[in-house]
Amino acid sequence: MPPSGGVTKLTAEEVAKHAVAEDCWVIVDGNVYDISNFPAVHPGGPQIAGMCGKDATELFQTRAGKDPHPESAQMKLETMLLGPVGLVLEGTTLES
Ligand code: HEM
Repeated sequence: MPPSGGVTKLTAEEVAKHAVAEDCWVIVDGNVYDISNFPAVHPGGPQIAGMCGKDATELFQTRAGKDPHPESAQMKLETMLLGPVGLVLEGTTLES
């Protein structure tokens, strides 16, 4: 779920609080992504829910030993970007 207001700092500790498929944040290459509910529809399978709350850089880049993800996957990921690790979101309300 997106930050719901107040001050949220995008730290590894904060990301770790979002560790289930329905409330799933991951770090990829120094950026924090809110991929809540995406594991259920991930073309590569729902097992990526195991990365919720963690740094998924290696798995995203290697797809567990297969070829890298296609460009389209990176673009889809960017639609779920919260911001770089360390960013402070102040008074941000992404929900109406
Ligand atoms: C943190 C985010 C992600 C992680 C850790 C991740 C990880 C993986 C892994 C491990 C696989 C291989 C699955 C297997 O065949 O055993 C895979 C496949 C795939 N992923 Fe992701 N993925 C992520 C995000 C995305 C996104 C955003 C997209 C875009 C829609 C995407 C599209 C795909 C596709 C198309 C495949 C290939 C499916 C197939 O072989 O039929 N992934 N992913």
